Parts: sequence; C-alpha cells; structure tokens
Amino acid sequence: MYLLAVETSCDDSAVAVLDGNGNALAELVSTQMVHGGHGGVVPEIASRLHMTVLPGLIREVLEKSGTSLNDIDVFAATAGPGLTGSLLVGLSWTKAAAFAMGKPFLGINHLSAHLHIHHSSPVEFPAVALLVSGGHTMIFHMPSWNECRLLGTTRDDAAGEAFDKTAKLMGLGYPGGRIIDELAEKGDPQAIALPSPIGNRRLPEFSFSGLKTAVRLIWAAGDVSPEDLSASFRKTVCGLLVSKTMYQAGKLGAKSVLVAGGVSANALLRTEFQLECHKRNMKLFLPPIEHTMDNAVMVGRAALSVLKSDPAAHSPASCNTFARWHGEMLSPLSC
Ligand code: KG4
Ligand code: ZN
Repeated sequence: MYLLAVETSCDDSAVAVLDGNGNALAELVSTQMVHGGHGGVVPEIASRLHMTVLPGLIREVLEKSGTSLNDIDVFAATAGPGLTGSLLVGLSWTKAAAFAMGKPFLGINHLSAHLHIHHSSPVEFPAVALLVSGGHTMIFHMPSWNECRLLGTTRDDAAGEAFDKTAKLMGLGYPGGRIIDELAEKGDPQAIALPSPIGNRRLPEFSFSGLKTAVRLIWAAGDVSPEDLSASFRKTVCGLLVSKTMYQAGKLGAKSVLVAGGVSANALLRTEFQLECHKRNMKLFLPPIEHTMDNAVMVGRAALSVLKSDPAAHSPASCNTFARWHGEMLSPLSC
C-alpha cells in the first residue's frame, strides 16, 4: 500500500510517498526563502510559489520513490490550520489527483499531523504532548492515538512567533528561532533577568508577548550582548515549556512525553526534556531535526493513523481549508 502526502500550510511545499507502515520511500521539502526579505511570510507570495513548485516536486518524489500515480492507493493533504491561499493549492491538487485516479482522499489537520510524526515510534500511553511551532503552543493529554485532548494553549503569541519577533527586534533576521538558538550557545543564560509570564507550572497556559516586550526594552536600553540576551530569552521560554509539560505529564501519569513542531529543534529544549524525562523514567519522543519543521511525512502518518481505525475512512469532495483550529478534542481527519 502506498500513500502520497502533501503539505502546504505555510511557506514550505512538502511531499512524501509512504508505505503502509509509515516509512517514507521518498520525501521532498521546498522552503520559500523569499520571505526573509519581508521579515515574515507574505501569504499571496506563498500561495503563488506553492502553485509553481508543487507539480514538479510531486513528479520528483514519485520518481525517487520508484512509484507512479497509478501505484498510489491513498492521497492525503493538509486542510488546515494555516494560510488559506497556501492550503488551497495543496488541498486542491491532491483532491483532484485522488478524484482522477479514483482513489480515496483524506483532509488532514496540521496540528495532529505534527504529533503523528511519532506514530511509527513505540509510544506508550497515556502520553502528554507539547506542540510548539511558529503558530501554536499547546499541551495535549493523549490516552491513545485516537484521543487527544487540549489541556492549554497560549493566550497571545506562540513560542516560535516569540522567537521570530524577538530576533526581528534585535535585527537578527528571519526566521529567528534557529538564529537565537545558535547565538544563545555562546551567551550566559543568567546574564539578564527576564520575566516568566504565567510562571505557575500548574497552569498549562502560556503568554509570550510580555516577555518579547521586556526584551525590546532591554535591547533598546543598549549595553547588552546579543549572545547573553538570546541565552536568557531561550532559557526563559524553554523553562516555561518544559516545566508546564512535565507537570501535566506527572499529574496525568504519562508514560511518554511527545514533543513536536518547529521549536522542538531547539537545542536547549531538547536537552532539558531529555534530563527531565530521564529523571522521571518517562519515555521521550523528539522528532529528528528534519521532521521538526513542516513536512509531508507527518501528514502521511496522520492519514495512516486514521486508516488504522477505519480502513474505509475518506473525506468528501467538498473538504475545505480552515485557517484556525478551535476545539478540545484534536483528530487527524479534518473533514
Ligand atoms: O512547525 P513549523 O515549521 O511551522 C509552523 O507550523 O509554525 O515551525 C516554525 C517555527 C518558527 O517560528 C521558527 O523560528 C521555529 O519554528 N524554530 C525554532 C528553531 N528552529 C525553528 N525555534 C527555536 N529554536 C530553534 N532551533
Ligand atoms: Zn507546522
């Protein structure tokens, strides 16, 4: 059984061919570099570039995997949340291909897909999951792959957004998460005292906009090294993410902790989770670095998870995009 997965929720066009066990036979990601010059993703440019790049990328991934469209049994694409124009490109292409080939199509939730990057790993349940990306900061309770309940989220900026905005105000470039992470390695995390908004670890909620403002004021006052400020900022953000996730994991008797999303590439976040999970004898699942960012393998694995529960599952031809996800129970199938 072969599955073709497509992801175009933001500025990465990603495609993958998976086998029935979730192994990627081939995968490709084309990242749009043009947005760097604008200090953030420009939605219309992103949609147009997906339109230009996607057909060639699909042709290439099929070739690399040694398959053709005729061999694909199931088609899956991200339906949301994300940028509407970007989502429409991947969703429409994939739906049309499924229709043309007379095969089922599945519209996948991007947030659930991030967590499903771990679907092929030996996760023991119950689990607690942290989804931490440019658009989301969420803690979930997962009694199984089929049940995923939101415990709390951010009241304002997402953690990745806070990294990006902080890097921008320090004139470091975009996207800023990786840049701050690298600078922080050379700085002293104790050098600058920063506030820890909603610091109570018992509350599974976050707020990062005040922290960003604190950095702005300290940076504007001058006389501070970018390395020290980056290190202090990174330590504060990671401290909040790790302490709140581990508190919920302890409270809910989690056997596993899952971390996913772009910010899970952060070096300090990875080390702190490793230390904390080791102390508590919990299994930790971190994505390989290339699968922390948006990719199509996670979309394919989320689709396989749907099919495992219901082999006849499919989305209707009217399956549409959505910009935001508001809910309590997160499922991989979006429509
Ligand atoms: O999951 P993702 O690729 O896209 C979204 O769905 O948002 O995440 C992108 C985010 C960006 O905000 C980027 O700055 C952040 O992940 N990021 C990092 C690191 N690498 C990427 N944040 C902190 N440390 C990193 N090493
Ligand atoms: Zn993402």
